[in-house]
Amino acid sequence: MKELLVHLLICPFCLPVEAELKCLISEKEGEDILSGSLYCSQCNNSYPIQEGVAILLPMPSETDSRAPSKYESPELLSSYLWAHYADIFEDMDATAAYEQWAGQLRNDSGISLDAGCAVGRFTFEMSKKSAFAVGIDNSHAFIKTARQLMINRQMGFSIPEEGLLREQRIIKLPETWDSSKVEFVVGDVLRLPFRRDAFSSVSSLNLVDKVPLPLVHIRELNRVARESHGQLLFSDPFSWSSDVSREENWLGGTADGPYSGKGFDNILLLLTGETGELLPPWEVENQGHIWWKIRNHENHFELIRSCFIMARR
Ligand SMILES: C[S@@+](CC[C@H](N)C(=O)[O-])C[C@H]1O[C@@H](n2cnc3c(N)ncnc32)[C@H](O)[C@@H]1O
Repeated sequence: MKELLVHLLICPFCLPVEAELKCLISEKEGEDILSGSLYCSQCNNSYPIQEGVAILLPMPSETDSRAPSKYESPELLSSYLWAHYADIFEDMDATAAYEQWAGQLRNDSGISLDAGCAVGRFTFEMSKKSAFAVGIDNSHAFIKTARQLMINRQMGFSIPEEGLLREQRIIKLPETWDSSKVEFVVGDVLRLPFRRDAFSSVSSLNLVDKVPLPLVHIRELNRVARESHGQLLFSDPFSWSSDVSREENWLGGTADGPYSGKGFDNILLLLTGETGELLPPWEVENQGHIWWKIRNHENHFELIRSCFIMARR
């Protein structure tokens, strides 16, 4: 973990109190802390930094989904490497989704946060538009892989063709992508381990329907985003599922309850301050949808309409 991140971090377990973390370094290479820990003197918790990866997960809590995450599996890792980088290795089935999302962002001189970053494509996109970008995800496999790409700048992986047949692909990061401007950490988007007001740009792509407490995630995104001169990019297909989150916690897709109706409309109301949940309110600058694709095998893709909101305050 790059040392410059330390001043942004707080203890995720102590939230809503933002308790400082003290960094104890065991091994360092240049600016990169390879091993050590981040210690909270309020709760006595210590968060490890192992092989360069900071693991900032809160203690087991109501935000845990208990079942082992599918996002740790080799199949999903390969699927997300394809979804994030297929345009870079010029796969004929790739979409330009991440460039299109990035096209919504304005350049700014602050720090960006990509919540639920998976294997890091949008974090790299955000780093091109800001001084530095941080990706956070609770999948160790995804974050380890994103960091390997950041450091080695190229990576081979295999994609399923048919049955047991697989083909090799190589991702080579374009020279214009600057590895010194990105970092990836393991953490929970329901308890972001960052200070209030830390980020000038925040994004949540295809995530809100994948967390057990969607409103808590949106509140957390709002907490860490700057109160003025901030931008927020939200996008989601609203595939609500009771496997992930209890129906009463969905932010849409139900006929009654405080968030009945469509998730997109409810997120708009939340962001613009109509519900009094998110203050200061955001101003919606643009909205629309972007087609995003996940590849299962050579002849099987999931085509996803991800509905976005670009907001500023
Ligand atoms: C559908 S994927 C979207 C990934 C990426 N944002 C994109 O659009 O390509 C959802 C991601 O959220 C991560 N995730 C799910 N729940 C999370 C949580 N509570 N905290 C952090 N990451 C989470 C998963 O590991 C996965 O990488």
